[in-house]
Amino acid sequence: MKVVYFLVAILALTSSLVSAYDPSPLQDFCVAAKEKDGVFVNGKFCKDPKLVKAEDFFRHVEPGKTDNPVGSNVTQVFVDQLPGLNTLGIALARIDFAPKGLNAPHTHPRGTEILIVLEGTLYVGFVTSNQDGNRLFTKVLNKGDVFVFPIGLIHFQLNVGYGNAVAIAGLSSQNPGAITIANALFKANPPISSEVLTKAFQVDKTIIDYLQKQSWYDNNN
Ligand SMILES: *[C@@H]1O[C@H](CO)[C@@H](O)[C@H](O)[C@H]1NC(C)=O
Repeated sequence: MKVVYFLVAILALTSSLVSAYDPSPLQDFCVAAKEKDGVFVNGKFCKDPKLVKAEDFFRHVEPGKTDNPVGSNVTQVFVDQLPGLNTLGIALARIDFAPKGLNAPHTHPRGTEILIVLEGTLYVGFVTSNQDGNRLFTKVLNKGDVFVFPIGLIHFQLNVGYGNAVAIAGLSSQNPGAITIANALFKANPPISSEVLTKAFQVDKTIIDYLQKQSWYDNNN
């Protein structure tokens, strides 16, 4: 019995220590104000609450154009686009796909993603970390299906339907960020040394040179 009480106490203690990635709001809202030159805070300054308007919490989103090399377009509604999100730990993205369009393997360094398909059929997946054996979890999602991509893990979405596809993603940060894996490695500025990349990918330098010469379209900026 004592052991049970002890376990409950440990559980209560640890659950009260759980903390969010984004700072918890200390007032109703903190609408992002423009940064002053050379001054940085973790997040954005708060606009004077007396000057805050409904527009600070509003944004209209149109379908993104998908006539690009990857056939997809991520429209971000992060704190930069919607200042009212500042300190609230949440954001949204609309993802449009042409037939065969791909949202290439990428990660969000600061946010978990929950995605719902509004239209079309997507083949989606994520890969676990090295410690968990780089396991691949995949699913084919149809209209109304929801899938979660845990924070930091590499994931992708491919339109495998006949028409266009549309999905909405909720993200657990006001500024989840996006790192497209191929772009980050092969379009780095300045370029990553080919000695690093040839060893990492266990291929010939000509292949790395070829990859570094590609244009690596960014569908998510
Ligand atoms: C996404 O679509 C919008 C709206 O058509 C367009 O302005 C924007 O350039 C596109 N972005 C990318 C990264 O393709």
